[in-house]
Amino acid sequence: MRTTVGIIGAGPAGLLLARLLHGAGIDSVVLEARDRAYVEHRQRAGILEQGTVDVLRAAGAGARMDREGLRHDGIELRFGRRRHRVDFPALTGGRSVMVYAQTEVCRDLIALRFAEGGPLLFEAEALAVEGADTAAPRVRFRHQGREDVLECDYVAGCDGFWGVSRAAVPAGVSRVFERTYPFGWLGILADVPPSHDELVYARHDRGFALLSMRSPSVSRLYLQVPEGTEPEEWSDEDVWRELERRLGTADDWTLRRGPVTQKSVTPMRSYVHEPMRYGRLFLAGDAAHIVPPTGAKGLNLAVGDVVTLARALAHRKETGSDELLDAYSATCLRRVWQAERFSHDMTALLHRAPDATAFEDRLQLARLERITSSRAAETDLAEAYTGFPLG
Ligand code: APR
Ligand code: PHB
Repeated sequence: MRTTVGIIGAGPAGLLLARLLHGAGIDSVVLEARDRAYVEHRQRAGILEQGTVDVLRAAGAGARMDREGLRHDGIELRFGRRRHRVDFPALTGGRSVMVYAQTEVCRDLIALRFAEGGPLLFEAEALAVEGADTAAPRVRFRHQGREDVLECDYVAGCDGFWGVSRAAVPAGVSRVFERTYPFGWLGILADVPPSHDELVYARHDRGFALLSMRSPSVSRLYLQVPEGTEPEEWSDEDVWRELERRLGTADDWTLRRGPVTQKSVTPMRSYVHEPMRYGRLFLAGDAAHIVPPTGAKGLNLAVGDVVTLARALAHRKETGSDELLDAYSATCLRRVWQAERFSHDMTALLHRAPDATAFEDRLQLARLERITSSRAAETDLAEAYTGFPLG
């Protein structure tokens, strides 16, 4: 099998890249290890920055998002049983975010890919990227029990944190920057209308809590839990009671309860692999970097990477120049590190470390007080949350 761009992984990064390349008249083959149902049901965050919304619309993938997505003009911060709303358009000159689940973005992109007739192979597991530093890289993969080879001009490693493409970068070239956190998020999906019309990020002495949503009738809620927690350790009753404690306010706000349809634990990690390019292999999305979910930057970063890559490949096709491909890694990393900084700071602002001292607790509260009393500090949060311009 032969193509111009071999894309490993059909998460948002790989699927959107295939769509953008199709628009630029560049052919690609997408290899995805899992089956279609799995990819279309995986639960992930669902906050789209303004720039991500614009990219999806321009790629012709925004129709259902515009019908079903919920525009949010702010978030609420809660601490000390008080509530503070951060008004995005007022602070950023009109920017907002869209609540539209990542699974829905993937579903829309898969449907478009099949409609345009582009190859997308499910249950096709890449085994290795070979010859990344040559003019003719190859992806070895297994599909329907048979091993095959995809010969390409370029390989896009969009295979997430656990994929194989990053391993094709020699150890002497790779640099990894990493931090793990001594806690994770226990997340539930519940069939009940959200108890607030915007997302609520709560700092509490017992730990962080987040109220989010998937639709006007489905709530998504999270609790900070110790690292290594298994979802079965928490009964539904325990989860609701703890959410009530951490999200509780001094006024008459109440949490609506409903049937829990899913429960899982997400570990928290910050991770950056540099460089994001080796020869003709380009890493994009979670394959190159991970952020903790506080602030929901993961999907938006993946979109930024593939927009930059598609533009560089189109430039190469039109002009024969490698200039933008050569700049790919540095261009993406500037934005990646801004998101790493923001996601780390939001995590530190709102979570309670198991070994937090009384001094650190006071500093954390002082930081929150600062954000809620200084327009400059609040603007800094609003700008980062609604997104940095695409490179
Ligand atoms: N061969 C083929 N496909 C693979 C392989 C492999 N060896 N290994 C992994 N994959 C697939 C996974 O099954 C998955 O569908 O690659 C895809 C990677 O998708 P994501 O993990 O969604 O990563 P990405 O597209 O970069 O999207 C980033 O995902 O984790 C969230 O918060 C993150 O929202 C962000 C987004
Ligand atoms: C989610 O809805 O899953 C979500 C929202 C905001 C975050 C993280 C996750 O910061």
